[in-house]
Amino acid sequence: MISNFKPEIVIFSDRAALMRDAARRFVTCARDAIQTNRRFAVALSGGATPRELYALLATPEFVTQIDWTHTHLFWGDERAVPPHHPDSNYRMTHDTLLSKIPVPSQNVHRIRTELPPEDVAREYENELRAFFQPQSTQGLQRKNSVPSVFSVADLPNFDLILLGLGSNGHTASLFPHTRVLRETERWVASEYIDAVKMWRITLTAPMINAAKNIVWLVAGADKAETVREVLYGAYRPDDLPAQLIQPTHGQVVWLLDNEASQKFKDKS
Ligand code: 6PG
Repeated sequence: MISNFKPEIVIFSDRAALMRDAARRFVTCARDAIQTNRRFAVALSGGATPRELYALLATPEFVTQIDWTHTHLFWGDERAVPPHHPDSNYRMTHDTLLSKIPVPSQNVHRIRTELPPEDVAREYENELRAFFQPQSTQGLQRKNSVPSVFSVADLPNFDLILLGLGSNGHTASLFPHTRVLRETERWVASEYIDAVKMWRITLTAPMINAAKNIVWLVAGADKAETVREVLYGAYRPDDLPAQLIQPTHGQVVWLLDNEASQKFKDKS
């Protein structure tokens, strides 16, 4: 990481303890956001790790602690597959959370992957603009229009973005050595990812970095070397895109289990 960036790191004895802490943080973010702005906007992560968190949020212990009528669910990225496809992040979230909570359908901002990938990215960006900047209708991108230029200060602030880490150093769908890593104007981009042989749609790094709170959920021994490299290794974001996530003003916390932190515990 760049030397002056020191995210908070919390290590848990096992995945269950990690997920409980993440659930409590989710509840706190939601409560604070709704108290302050009467709404909670969260971008969920995909993959396998957050399944346990989503299932926990749907249990009686947590589900009633969140005001779902003022909660808006987005995704940090999506695979360019239909929503019922086994690889779909939406499907994973539906099975573990959405099908079990009283969230109004209009509060679920699914990335509509039925369209061609670039149209998906443009439509999702328009939806984000309509949600975060309803006054800026001119900000809505029309087909084949040049993305509107915005300064970092114009970027909308998710109250919370959940992130996972791939063992190759990717996060969301920001994969090593891809064009999207250098995107500085768009909020959402699409890219064919050779490493996984599929199109992906993703929030861009500047969009993620504008979040008020970022919570990393990383568990398992297979992530340990990557975690050490990302947090303590040389700054090489083209190889380790997770290193791009250094929010300008927001809070960042890495929630790790013992296995994922085993390569650097002596550093803590
Ligand atoms: C995705 C995710 C991705 C994920 C990592 C870790 O769509 O796959 O957004 O960034 O968080 O690949 O995935 P696991 O939790 O399955 O290890």
